[in-house]
Amino acid sequence: MHDILAVNQKYFQKIFGVCENLANFYQFERIDTPILEDSELFSKGIGLATDIVGKQMFNLKTRGGDYLTLRPEGTAPVVRAYVENGMFNLPQPIKLWYFGPFFRYEHPQAGRYRQFWQAGFEVFGEESPVVDAQIVQVFYNVLKELKIKNLIVEINSIGDSQCRPYYKKLLVSYFKGREGALCSDCKRRLKENPLRILDCKEEKCQQVRAQAPQMLDHLCEECRKHFKEVLEFLDEIEMPYHLNPYLVRGLDYYTKTVFEIFEDSDEGKKIGALAGGGRYDNLVKVLGGKSTPACGASGGVERITALMKEKKIKLSEPVLPKVFFAQLGSLAKRKSLKLLEDFRQERILITESFGRDSLKSQLGRANKLETKYVLILGQKEALEGSIIIRDMTNGKQETIKLDKAVREIKKRLKK
Ligand code: HAM
Repeated sequence: MHDILAVNQKYFQKIFGVCENLANFYQFERIDTPILEDSELFSKGIGLATDIVGKQMFNLKTRGGDYLTLRPEGTAPVVRAYVENGMFNLPQPIKLWYFGPFFRYEHPQAGRYRQFWQAGFEVFGEESPVVDAQIVQVFYNVLKELKIKNLIVEINSIGDSQCRPYYKKLLVSYFKGREGALCSDCKRRLKENPLRILDCKEEKCQQVRAQAPQMLDHLCEECRKHFKEVLEFLDEIEMPYHLNPYLVRGLDYYTKTVFEIFEDSDEGKKIGALAGGGRYDNLVKVLGGKSTPACGASGGVERITALMKEKKIKLSEPVLPKVFFAQLGSLAKRKSLKLLEDFRQERILITESFGRDSLKSQLGRANKLETKYVLILGQKEALEGSIIIRDMTNGKQETIKLDKAVREIKKRLKK
């Protein structure tokens, strides 16, 4: 788990701002769910055979004997909130978004942290494929607004409870005949989660999968029609997508559409998927609600930040103060806070270094900050109720009344 220092905070804030703007435009409402949830929410929601539930959850037992988990993802918690708060009684669709920290016990490496932030968007109560396309569009736009180029959307359909069981059988019988050629993880997956063999990164498994049956050839009529329409919507908005028959995602709740977005360069590939998601029409029911179609995705804030830095994407510079306040002596210092407050109320940015008492070091600081004016309040001025304005561009100084300082600076800054 890592600290988010000032150098990265500005990227986080930029990403948050872009997400918030797009959420407002597409009418998503913000939701925050607790960091801790009942462990069962995730084992039921994400699936016992997934890596997340099997290996990556931070679990704890409370004094009262409850089993809780630091949330590894946001979809199951948002579904719980949807059910618990009776959102199905409101006019549908319900569109929610979130931005917060998530926790997975991973091997820390580039793009993989044990605490990481996600921005997520979820839509409930709408089965039309237009929603699948809109979710892809939202994330594509988030990344585009952040000036990330060469984006590629990988997309697939993994069917539903009508067609997937049959496809799984086909897949198991195909891989069973070639079990010896699979890695040890995939041998286990063959029993527990055969679909995941398709996205194994091991060279030898990728060779075996090349001839494996593909889900797209075995979709039922409804899933086939749905997927065709999703792709038509994406064509209509000229979204650059790539059909990836091996994309299955690491969470069990998906039905029909699944997708991930990558940046198409060596750095982008190293960082991994910037965002991922899909449709999950059964999850609301599995978690105790009424059967409700749903679709969503989330993006990794650290990964997006890493890529923006790698690609040297500039953020707009913060507005810097043009005025520096220097004080000398105890009486001047006593008057300082009040003077700063007067500037704040007029919304004029002013900076100081109260910790330094020598004029030379304070002027040095002002020089470094490249402020246009320095206000100097010495012992004499403090007694007389005056203050010196020094123009740093030409070194000219003028003494004015202390209570005119704000007005005078305002006037000069306007010029
Ligand atoms: P996910 O693919 O597990 O999906 O995570 C989404 C994104 O979070 C990834 O594409 C990646 O950018 C980022 N991410 C995941 N794990 C880490 C990590 N350990 N360190 C840094 N970044 C990471 C989900 O979580 C689903 N809940 C998405 C979703 C929402 N599906 C439907 N609605």
